[in-house]
Amino acid sequence: MKLDVLSTPPPAPETSAAPSAAPAPASGAPSKRVFIHTFGCQMNESDSARMAEILKGEGYGRTEVADDADLILLNTCAIREKAEQKLFSALGRYRQVKLSRGARIGVAGCVAQQEKDKLTARVPYVDFVLGPDAIGKLPEILARVAQRERVVETAWMDSESYVFPHADPESARGKVTEFVTVMKGCNNVCAFCVVPRTRGREVSRPLVEVMREVASLAGVGVKEVTLLGQNVNSYAGGVDFAELLLRTAQVPGIERVRFTTSHPHDLSDALIEAFAREPKIAPHFHLPVQSGSDPVLQRMRRDYTVERYLERLAKLRAARPGIAITTDIIVGYPGETEDDFERTMKLVEQVGYDGIFSFIYSPRPHTSAIRHEEAWGVVPYPVKVERLERLQRRQQELGDAAAQPYLGQIVSVLVEGPSKTRADLRMGRTPENRVVNFAGQAAAGSFAQVKVQGAKHNGYAGIQVG
Ligand code: 5AD
Ligand code: SF4
Repeated sequence: MKLDVLSTPPPAPETSAAPSAAPAPASGAPSKRVFIHTFGCQMNESDSARMAEILKGEGYGRTEVADDADLILLNTCAIREKAEQKLFSALGRYRQVKLSRGARIGVAGCVAQQEKDKLTARVPYVDFVLGPDAIGKLPEILARVAQRERVVETAWMDSESYVFPHADPESARGKVTEFVTVMKGCNNVCAFCVVPRTRGREVSRPLVEVMREVASLAGVGVKEVTLLGQNVNSYAGGVDFAELLLRTAQVPGIERVRFTTSHPHDLSDALIEAFAREPKIAPHFHLPVQSGSDPVLQRMRRDYTVERYLERLAKLRAARPGIAITTDIIVGYPGETEDDFERTMKLVEQVGYDGIFSFIYSPRPHTSAIRHEEAWGVVPYPVKVERLERLQRRQQELGDAAAQPYLGQIVSVLVEGPSKTRADLRMGRTPENRVVNFAGQAAAGSFAQVKVQGAKHNGYAGIQVG
């Protein structure tokens, strides 16, 4: 049988996800319905799941249809200007639901934290604004909104008394993979990034809490967990991150452990050693490099050189041969010359990335880069676009070529369920996180052996042989 290469790309650190269906409440029909529109990264996906669970306790079932909702929550992303614009066009659409059925509208996430009461001032039909630290206050906020108050809750929670919302394992029943938040915030000072401002300082979740959540997820059948945080490598919740990974891998029922996202300066020898020791730590590392030019890295306030980055990677690859490396790259950063960009292209050739998430630099409020832009030299927009396209084209060629040797090979796939691209196929991922769409009957949660019949940069197609 000949199959097309049908694949969805690996999960992006930032995707604009369509609102997803939620399981029905445990008992009784919910009296009210919430529609949650999630923008941005997995952190936001995870926060949306927690908000849905909290709202379930308030009698809200989740709906996928905004027009049916009594409450519309937008969980927003501020990382690039485009992401922020999406919020305002979505708000315009949901305004109709408010007019027609009196739905309440709330804005959560990073734009909420960044804009605070400027949002309620700018958009008169927004009922409430809550920052990422205020998720636990949702019931109280809704009660105040019911009294016709317009609420803005964007205060930071003290690091010492920070409470991570607990995942309800019941929401994960029937799922094969799940996220577990292990830390929040970011203490780095990357000049382009708004996240330290929208997510605050780093706080690590205590080890016992993480272990309890992983065990409860394993208890409802989850096989793979992804430890989540803006900067997981600097985890400090009782043990270091390497030890956290090792302990997670030992939880009975957990077959694979992944994590995202990391800063190269925290890629410690202990972490590399953990990859050598524990086969359940999946052979994939997302290691954002941002640029292949030292002067650009310096202006970005990334505290490594290309040489140092490559040295760390070499060590990681020696510890776990075949490990897949993915990265984030920003093009058109202020002052980036053609020569700087060529260095990025050279780095991409040299490393042989499994996947690249590439972005055009977007000036963000309150960042140090925006203050220096003019002095460093703004890269004209058409030049940024041309560089992005050149980079993506090259990566696609390299990725397609790198996939060819897998044709005819048998890969081991953790099955997640039906394929997203064709209903008669199944979908799973290799340990390296490559998406595989295949013909077969394997149940979700089982491992299938799949013979690769089509191989491209963004995944494989094949047939189950075991
Ligand atoms: N402009 C473009 N891309 C950005 N990123 C973060 N801030 C910006 C910005 N201002 C990218 C980085 C980061 C990823 C999550 O988003 O590459 O690793
Ligand atoms: Fe996620 Fe916030 Fe970053 Fe957007 S700005 S990618 S929502 S952490």
